[in-house]
Amino acid sequence: MKIFLDTAEIEEIRTAARWGVLDGVTTNPSLYAKVGGSYDEILKEICKITSGPVSAEVVSDDVEGMLTEGRHFAKLAPNIVVKVAMSENGLEAISRFAAEGIKTNCTLVFSTNQGFLAAKAGASIISPFVGRLDDINQDGMTVIRELAEAFSIHEIECEVLAASIRNPLHMTQSLLAGAHIATLPFKILQQMVHHPLTDKGIAQFKKDWAAAQATAAK
Ligand code: G3P
Repeated sequence: MKIFLDTAEIEEIRTAARWGVLDGVTTNPSLYAKVGGSYDEILKEICKITSGPVSAEVVSDDVEGMLTEGRHFAKLAPNIVVKVAMSENGLEAISRFAAEGIKTNCTLVFSTNQGFLAAKAGASIISPFVGRLDDINQDGMTVIRELAEAFSIHEIECEVLAASIRNPLHMTQSLLAGAHIATLPFKILQQMVHHPLTDKGIAQFKKDWAAAQATAAK
């Protein structure tokens, strides 16, 4: 399973890249709003840090507007993937982008049928939102599992990206559900690194090492 960071914060992306665990980045208007500045410049900077897919989201409601925005993003760097929200116009835009060879990530997917249609239209990635389904008392992971299984059965090339990841358990569950990609906030990536027994073990090793050195020096 590939790991994407769900952020527009450059330093977080640089850190994950240094750790050797970064396969790509997803952004959206809300994440961009947290950092501000020029969206184009941020995207270009991110694309310099990772050669993996970097999602840039269009905000138009109409097909031509989506196409204009998406074509502009696609020119910024070769690894840009145009993010399009699930809708009737979104499907049309995805289909047109596919015909032009522009990769897309269909976002705001909340059902297996939506994901299937997006893949059919030509999306290279679909993004079911796990946390937001859990928020309304529906099991978000079911959509991930169903889509991963359906795409495997029917040999559909589209990748299932688990989005709206809210905790480390969602990552483990996505891994086991067959998600091809999971995108997560940097804080959750840090949580995945740590375990209290690891920290305790490191402290104990340091203590024992220092004691052995002190004995050897006598
Ligand atoms: O990847 C989608 C993500 O940004 C949404 O997360 O936590 O706002 O549902 P959340």
